[in-house]
Amino acid sequence: METVLPSLIDKHNRHLNYLRISITDRCNLRCLYCMPHDGLAKLKHEEILTYEEILRLATIAVKLGVNKIRLTGGEPLIRKGILHLLPSLVSLPGLKDISLTTNGVYLKEHLDKIKSAGIKRINISLDTLHRKRYKKITGYDGFEQVWEGIQLARQLGFNPIKINMVVMQDINDDEIVDFARLSLNHPYHIRFIEYMPSGFADQGTHLHHVPNSAVKEQITTLGKLARVLNTEIDGPTDRFRLEGAPGEIGFISPLTHHFCQVCNRLRLTASGHLRPCLLSDQEVDLKTLMRAGASDNDLEQIFLETAKNKPRAHRLVSEHCGSLSGQMSAIGG
Ligand code: 5AD
Ligand code: SF4
Repeated sequence: METVLPSLIDKHNRHLNYLRISITDRCNLRCLYCMPHDGLAKLKHEEILTYEEILRLATIAVKLGVNKIRLTGGEPLIRKGILHLLPSLVSLPGLKDISLTTNGVYLKEHLDKIKSAGIKRINISLDTLHRKRYKKITGYDGFEQVWEGIQLARQLGFNPIKINMVVMQDINDDEIVDFARLSLNHPYHIRFIEYMPSGFADQGTHLHHVPNSAVKEQITTLGKLARVLNTEIDGPTDRFRLEGAPGEIGFISPLTHHFCQVCNRLRLTASGHLRPCLLSDQEVDLKTLMRAGASDNDLEQIFLETAKNKPRAHRLVSEHCGSLSGQMSAIGG
């Protein structure tokens, strides 16, 4: 007889079927909204999970019902050996979807291997289409590299290719329509993300978010936005398509449209902490437990318990004035 395993369900009846894994806290860029110019204190090598540990925890999560995994960072492609981890993750039985978020700088040289590992979905962070501005936003003159990476991903058949734009007032909000237009000419999914204040990156930058309602209004100058139905693995993105467009437009609105009720995520940080909410400090140190000899069964119980205690809503919503209390690059955005 088949045994029915307990699955990751919280007290508010949300099924946590999506695990985001931060492969490394390190990044080659310094995006205004994510990292201060001088970077952040880096975790030491022994403080981050080994690939074996990541695979062990991912295996447990999938056994407990996680069917979607996203690899994030920092920048996952700068960690040595990452490409060897991919095939074992891809082949976890029960996993329906595995994707990678990258800033795209090193994408071109890795795409072949990413593809042969079986990854088909890819998210690329890109906040401007202008070379000089790219350097201002990220601290690195890498626009061309990223753009070529995106084009090559398309030629190689990655689908969907999602382009994430964090919209910041007076920094890149004059490019909203240009980004949306990309979806008319290419099969890209352009996703507009509301900037979330982060205590780490903000020092001196005073960034302001633009509500996605205003972003959407600008986009309708290009045509009618028809709603695309969400699937189980879409999460909180509100999906649309401009008439006749091969690509899509998505809105992710953590500030103005809080989606905590439908949040299905758990996060595994680069340092091996299981975190049920991006915006809450509540987390469990799985790495230390594992290294002290915790069994798979112990770890399963901790996953179940942590899932059960996922906070109902985040503070940006409940207080309207909070900011991220952890380092985005280590938690995995
Ligand atoms: N606000 C919104 N999104 C952010 N990201 C990182 N920091 C922030 C922030 N402060 C997201 C962006 C980026 C990805 C790596 O993480 O979407 O593309
Ligand atoms: Fe690096 Fe991504 Fe943070 Fe930019 S947003 S600094 S690419 S981790």
